Amino acid sequence: MKVLLLGASGRIGRRIATELLERGHAVTGVSRSGEVDGIDDPDFEAVAGDATDADGVADLAAGHDAVASALGPSKDEDPDVLPEMAEAVVEGLREAGVDRLVWTGGAGGLHVDEDTLLIETDDFPEAFEPVASAALDALEAFREAEDVRWSYVAPAAMIEPGERTGEYRTAEGELVVDEDGESYVSMEDFAIAFVDELEDGEAIHSRLGVGY
Ligand SMILES: NC(=O)c1ccc[n+]([C@@H]2O[C@H](COP(=O)([O-])OP(=O)(O)OC[C@H]3O[C@@H](n4cnc5c(N)ncnc54)[C@H](OP(=O)(O)O)[C@@H]3O)[C@@H](O)[C@H]2O)c1
Repeated sequence: MKVLLLGASGRIGRRIATELLERGHAVTGVSRSGEVDGIDDPDFEAVAGDATDADGVADLAAGHDAVASALGPSKDEDPDVLPEMAEAVVEGLREAGVDRLVWTGGAGGLHVDEDTLLIETDDFPEAFEPVASAALDALEAFREAEDVRWSYVAPAAMIEPGERTGEYRTAEGELVVDEDGESYVSMEDFAIAFVDELEDGEAIHSRLGVGY
């Protein structure tokens, strides 16, 4: 597959790029600067682009089989740029005639029980509320896009650089928690789950929680 990866310079994005390349996909990696450090592969091309610009996304997406995203707001940026990017990306895909999108979402929008999202729980850290809420608003942009085959792949509550074990579990719409009650996944294993979903499309028009 030829994949346009938005957010390729980010912590999760670089690992998704590596996983895609290991599996033989060709990757066009987008960052605002056009630089993506640490990836040296003949099937990887780093390009500059702005994910808030729908026409720009359309130009970049043209000729690709799928668009993947590990976009996130920069530290000094209003998290509301996330739904703005989601809308621009959907519009850009439509303009380019690409119909497959896999998006890195947030754990806050996953269910901890039938009636409660993680973000609604008493213990949810206040500091993460703005970005978690913006990630949920991004999900709304996809829910209105039935014509795009989108998947919203959301990590466990805690995700960090770690080991590529090849082990993970998924749950549609739900936070994945291990037998000790911990919700955790390494960025490397999350990238495996993300690329599996890109290849297999088991959770089209749905949220997929990933953890151990
Ligand atoms: N437990 C959880 O739910 C959880 C935990 C961690 C992360 N996440 C989510 O996962 C996503 C990725 O996280 P991360 O830690 O990998 O983020 P990160 O390291 O901050 O990377 C963000 C990426 O987005 C790119 N970007 C930002 N604005 C852009 C724009 N306007 N146009 C093009 N590219 C743009 C950045 O590129 P440049 O700055 O190089 O241009 C960078 O590649 C985020 O949405 C985050 O909320 C969820």
